[in-house]
Amino acid sequence: MEKDLERIEYLRNELNKHNYNYYVLSTPTISDFEFDQMMKELQDLEMQHPEMFDPSSPTQRVGSDISKNFQQVAHKYPMLSLGNTYSKEEVSDFYQRVSKGLEGESFEIVCELKYDGTSISLTYEHGKLVRAVTRGDGEKGDDVTDNVRTIRSIPLVLHGDYPDEFEIRGEILMPWMVFEKLNEERLQNEEPLFANPRNAASGTLKMQNSKEVSKRKLDSYLYYLLGDTIPEDTHYDNLKAAQKWGFKISDAMKVCHSVDEIFDFIQYWDVERKNLPVATDGIVLKVNSIAQQEQLGYTAKSPRWAIAYKFQAERACTRLNSISYQVGRTGAITPVANLDPVQLSGTVVKRASLHNADIIRSLDLYIGDMVYVEKGGEIIPKIVGVDYNQRGIDIGEKVQFITKCPECGTPLIRLEGEAAHYCPNDAHCPPQIKGRIEHFVGRKAMDINLGEENINLLYNKGMIKNIADLYDLDMRELSGLDRWGETSAKNVIESLEKSKQVPFERVLFALGIRYVGATTAKKIANAMKSIETIERATVPDLQVIDEVGERIAQSVYDYFRSEDNRAIVDRLKQVGLQFELDEDVLKNRTDKLAGLSIIISGTFQRHSRDELKLLIEQNGGKNVSSISSKTDYLIAGENMGPAKLEKAKSLNVKMISEEDFENMIK
Ligand code: IVH
Repeated sequence: MEKDLERIEYLRNELNKHNYNYYVLSTPTISDFEFDQMMKELQDLEMQHPEMFDPSSPTQRVGSDISKNFQQVAHKYPMLSLGNTYSKEEVSDFYQRVSKGLEGESFEIVCELKYDGTSISLTYEHGKLVRAVTRGDGEKGDDVTDNVRTIRSIPLVLHGDYPDEFEIRGEILMPWMVFEKLNEERLQNEEPLFANPRNAASGTLKMQNSKEVSKRKLDSYLYYLLGDTIPEDTHYDNLKAAQKWGFKISDAMKVCHSVDEIFDFIQYWDVERKNLPVATDGIVLKVNSIAQQEQLGYTAKSPRWAIAYKFQAERACTRLNSISYQVGRTGAITPVANLDPVQLSGTVVKRASLHNADIIRSLDLYIGDMVYVEKGGEIIPKIVGVDYNQRGIDIGEKVQFITKCPECGTPLIRLEGEAAHYCPNDAHCPPQIKGRIEHFVGRKAMDINLGEENINLLYNKGMIKNIADLYDLDMRELSGLDRWGETSAKNVIESLEKSKQVPFERVLFALGIRYVGATTAKKIANAMKSIETIERATVPDLQVIDEVGERIAQSVYDYFRSEDNRAIVDRLKQVGLQFELDEDVLKNRTDKLAGLSIIISGTFQRHSRDELKLLIEQNGGKNVSSISSKTDYLIAGENMGPAKLEKAKSLNVKMISEEDFENMIK
């Protein structure tokens, strides 16, 4: 009893955390299967203990992907999810349930592919796309219309005999090829990689700049038509009609009349799906007749007339030989499992990710264990389980997460609220030093002609021990190195010289302060104008800057409290790097809009929305994306949404035209 209550608390915490990782951060750390198992266990326990009911339990909602940057819109019809099944028995059970629910009436089941992207609800009025909304929490989602308009396979204008008003739902996808290319680019730019095309698609849909979205080449499949006047009596015929109006509807769709036909469909597509250009993770089964769908109805979270069958991710079983611990640039420790080589979906796997200490603990791993490895759409295979039956008396040691840095021996720390362990010895731990130098020379940072291998060489020879040492390198020393010669030495020296012109914001990014990415560095540089101001700033001073929260502010503050860091920055100043904003940028800046929150809505004659945004920021104002009582002005363009107009009026937000705005900053 006591144990059940503890377990409920534990599962709620875990599921909340994974919900957040999945929906807000878009970086899940467990598989859907594990998540569903935990959810099911919690549902069962909550059933047995009704006294533990909690409206905030993860079982009471279907997740949320709301981010603050988009207008939120209520769904006219809630966006439900589907019940998941993992075996043919469960599919048969579903078939029986439907049959029973329809009191023996005959029925058809439409089988479709389950596309693994991010779901979207599109509203069309008079044949035109008027709104695209993400699922959000199922009741309301983010209005991402501008971004969705860039997706080529989504029709902006329909043809044929379509209803005057309807919604159509489907999946936004990033094709494998696009995903792989995007990650290659991100690797080059030192940006974090997307774990799978699903995260890449949902991340893209939430980008602030629809121009960027347009470059990402998203695709779509639509699979559900709804409204008061939809044309046909069956789901299948409705989709076929929608196909005629211009929507992308999958041809992998079949009307089945028996469980065996359904199994055939599953069997066929479990193999054939590997040849598709986009990711799929299962099959969706839907009762074909709309009248029968209505008869069967809904539970609180999902329709009784539909269900998903999830494909088993490809897994292999192999022996765990050892664990290596890698130390990254920021000191984060990544545990990696070394395995007996094993064949898995066409490649040989020797290593697998173990993520963090919690995951290792929950797996209860021993060296010598036979472990299951999965490649579920993720780039790096991961260990998802252990075959405890194969654990004999000759098993090796229990895997204990290390307590000291494998590179420098410093005791590891774990920051509050973070899953990773860190080596705190940032000034003297070799991979951290080398990593920081690699970051410093990167293309988005100082763009210096030095690769990982040469950094290693120079570091091992004792020629560079920190980023400032780079500027002490000389021609003679470099050209004397093995296999170097004059040309390569000259290249390096020249790029070092050129890097002295790199603008302040990039220099600030190049320093490699934890949590300060390229965008944040830009914001800080623009707000603070020089390195001296940043050095002197307190945590609250820094937090005033747009998009700088406590965590980032504290990290910047801490960076400049270190003697070592200050000494390095001083040396870089002496070398002549740019440590203040460029005159030209400064010249165009004013305080005319200081303290004002301004929202942009609609389209404009003379400026793009991005240009307006830049003008607001250059003149000291703050561009906000959702309207509130704190908003001072709304720059109103053409085709402004009626909801925004209404809200602006009710909150007494002053509305101005593009011209009025120009006059304000003249
Ligand atoms: S039908 C009420 N059909 O799977 C029925 N969903 O948990 C609504 N999905 O949120 C969904 N392919 O994002 C349907 N052919 C398909 C699908 C599909 C992928 C996704 C969708 C939904 C989730 C179900």
